[in-house]
Amino acid sequence: MAFPITTLRNFQTPCYIYDTALLARTLDAIHAETAEHDNYHVHYAIKANAHPAILHQIAAAGFGADCVSGGEIQAALDAGFPAASIAFAGVGKADWEIQLALKAGIGMFNVESVEELEVLNELATSSNTRARISFRINPDIDAHTHDHITTGRAEDKFGIAMEQTVSVIRKAQAMTGIDFQGLHFHIGSQLLVMDDFETLCQRINELQDMLEAEGIHLANINVGGGLGINYGDPDGHAIPDFHAYFTTFTNNLQLRQGQQLHFELGRAVVAQMGTLLTRVLYIKHGTEKQFVIVDAGMTELIRPALYGAFHKIDNLTAADRTDSVVYDVVGPICESSDTFIKDYTLPETRRGDLLAIRSAGAYGEAMASNYNCRHLPPSHLI
Ligand code: LLP
Repeated sequence: MAFPITTLRNFQTPCYIYDTALLARTLDAIHAETAEHDNYHVHYAIKANAHPAILHQIAAAGFGADCVSGGEIQAALDAGFPAASIAFAGVGKADWEIQLALKAGIGMFNVESVEELEVLNELATSSNTRARISFRINPDIDAHTHDHITTGRAEDKFGIAMEQTVSVIRKAQAMTGIDFQGLHFHIGSQLLVMDDFETLCQRINELQDMLEAEGIHLANINVGGGLGINYGDPDGHAIPDFHAYFTTFTNNLQLRQGQQLHFELGRAVVAQMGTLLTRVLYIKHGTEKQFVIVDAGMTELIRPALYGAFHKIDNLTAADRTDSVVYDVVGPICESSDTFIKDYTLPETRRGDLLAIRSAGAYGEAMASNYNCRHLPPSHLI
């Protein structure tokens, strides 16, 4: 834990704390793995954590941005990401969001349907500009992850079916407001099995061969994000295995001369730097269970309730206690799903103890809500 316990005790809880030194080391690790490839471009997926200081640090380190809304594009620009480094994805881009992106001159629209292509062409033409686009193709891969965060199967709402690739490209090439650049893919999130990325590479290779036979050349390929992190052992694996990730693409993807390869990593960049700090309100002795009731809930971190996600929990104030007890750690929200973890062994825990809910830097604060009229949590950086 980056903060001394005396400092943590003064914090109003629940709150997020972020270790910016770990973020710097993580960004360095990505640079080290991509340095020898000038054609590799990493865009940080802002949806994982849009804290302005975190965005600023990532932009200053030279990364691009992956955005999924007008609000994210604005946040990226405000944080200093160059407009040309911004990719804009999403199945439902509203007209005002497209106009904002056109005006800013972003690097790439990742277009998810023919219907969107037509609107984009109209809006670009009427503002005398051309939109650089990639088509998001659904590669029909069932990645090994939670059902809610797999995105590349044929039945998922994302992208354009592979069979339609040639016809949509031909259509785009004939449009005055569209500058066709390449293809985009994203198969899911929290992927730890490199085979899934290898399968993606094979799909892309087959698709490229087929497109070349049709005389279609791709200037850009974007393989999305999805690299997972180790939630079980955040201290032992503070920095994800970027070497395995990038070499999977280097070894399996058959890039053509001059082709640029784009990545959109979110979770792997920021998850381990963040901790949700919470205070124990009560220890409730149920008939069969012991409950640790804390002041954070699904309003601050919804991942356990929404995906059954595991987050390691440390009691920061029990170093001198030898007994351990099996608890359910639960929040104060009026929903049974407001449970961080069940049947979890902690040192004997008391009212007033401080708990650290680990690996919460990605999709934690970014997904916080005001449900039950609660205030959004404050955050502190070191
Ligand atoms: N690119 C696209 C097109 C995406 O949809 C996503 C994530 C990313 C990149 C970044 O993926 P990452 O590298 O972070 O896995 N709220 C869920 C995760 C949702 C991910 C949505 N898309 C969670 O808490 O697990």
